Amino acid sequence: MSTRTVMVLSGPNLNLLGEREPEVYGANTLDDHLAVAREAATIHGLEIDHLQSNHEGELVDAIQAARTDCAAIVINPGAFTHYAWAIHDALAAFDGPIIEVHLSNPAAREPWRHTSVVAPVAAGTIAGFGSDGYRLAIDAVAALLASA
Ligand code: DQA
Repeated sequence: MSTRTVMVLSGPNLNLLGEREPEVYGANTLDDHLAVAREAATIHGLEIDHLQSNHEGELVDAIQAARTDCAAIVINPGAFTHYAWAIHDALAAFDGPIIEVHLSNPAAREPWRHTSVVAPVAAGTIAGFGSDGYRLAIDAVAALLASA
């Protein structure tokens, strides 16, 4: 178990970043966003583990594994944000800081994106800042771990 590992989780369709609706999500790929997260993590002496999955159960399995392997979770659940209660419940069983990240700002989009079932179990949500959101999320994790 490493107390310095942050599990970064990416939900469905985020593997298509760079190609998918670039007018909404920008031109950067998921790897580009992860590079931003890793750079921020290095500054704070943290390490990043990452899983992208299009399958809710795989994300639940990763969240459960993080209970023993990781100090914190940064999660962009993609569309699972808005209805995946199994992800909510898995996160509720995780003891460390959880930060919800969105590249776009769901609150400024279609009404069905305005609900997050993840927000109630997250320390906070960072939305609308593109890649910078991953840097801000890692900064937030570092601050929360330092004050724990
Ligand atoms: C997203 C926002 C979600 O509403 C959407 O389903 C995504 C991406 C974002 O990062 O802005 O897949 O999580």
